[in-house]
Amino acid sequence: MLTLRSVTAGYGGATVLRDVDLTVADGEVVALLGANGAGKTTLLRLATGLLKPQGGRIEFAGRDLTNSPPQTFARQGICLLPEGRGIFPSLTVRENLVVQARGRNLDASITAAAELYPVLGTRLRQAAGSLSGGEQQMLALARAYITQPALVLIDEASLGLAPLAVDAIYAALGRLVERGVSLLVVEQYAQKALAIADTVYVLNQGRITHTGAADGISAEEIYGKYLGIGA
Ligand SMILES: Nc1ncnc2c1ncn2[C@@H]1O[C@H](COP(=O)(O)OP(=O)(O)O)[C@@H](O)[C@H]1O
Ligand SMILES: [Mg+2]
Repeated sequence: MLTLRSVTAGYGGATVLRDVDLTVADGEVVALLGANGAGKTTLLRLATGLLKPQGGRIEFAGRDLTNSPPQTFARQGICLLPEGRGIFPSLTVRENLVVQARGRNLDASITAAAELYPVLGTRLRQAAGSLSGGEQQMLALARAYITQPALVLIDEASLGLAPLAVDAIYAALGRLVERGVSLLVVEQYAQKALAIADTVYVLNQGRITHTGAADGISAEEIYGKYLGIGA
């Protein structure tokens, strides 16, 4: 479904990603792991049209989107849940859902969010910024339940969250997968992502240094062998 072919990209004169090949198949869950600064967020920007590559191709469902604007990526059903959650802290939960719904039926959107995470349904008038970190991440994730995308790209979903909140986020991602949504999960911390993934890619200083089945590789192995930072 999503394919990056020999993609090179960066900012200004600086090259951040070199010769990156990555595929997310229909219904597949891919974990993209790598240390801070490896280029993970940059790759997600490329996969959503927010950044244009310096070389290589980006395809989705057989279409060449290399030079298409972000709106085209969104229309194809590609949904980015950005690092830092991408919600509006000073707006209420309800107002955030209005933004996420983008003209879709609001009642149905609120129902979808409450189904995902009942707390959201009871906090509609509360400022999103006053929710707990885990609740804010659930609100961000509601976008993927409301818009029914084909592919969800999620950037550091577990960053700064307590273990129980991380479990809840990954359970919610699991329910998306059950609905047939494909996932590209970006994490600095490998364990949770490996547990949900079919395939793992390791990004090391802008290059893919390992691709393989997520089964049978441990977080320790990834840290030690491919990131070179020890478990
Ligand atoms: N907007 C930007 N302008 C210039 N350099 C950037 C920008 N965003 C990221 N970078 C640089 O690109 C490299 C990779 O960043 P990023 O993709 O955010 O890594 P990761 O998400 O793996 O931590 C880093 O060296 C970072 O400083
Ligand atoms: Mg990042």
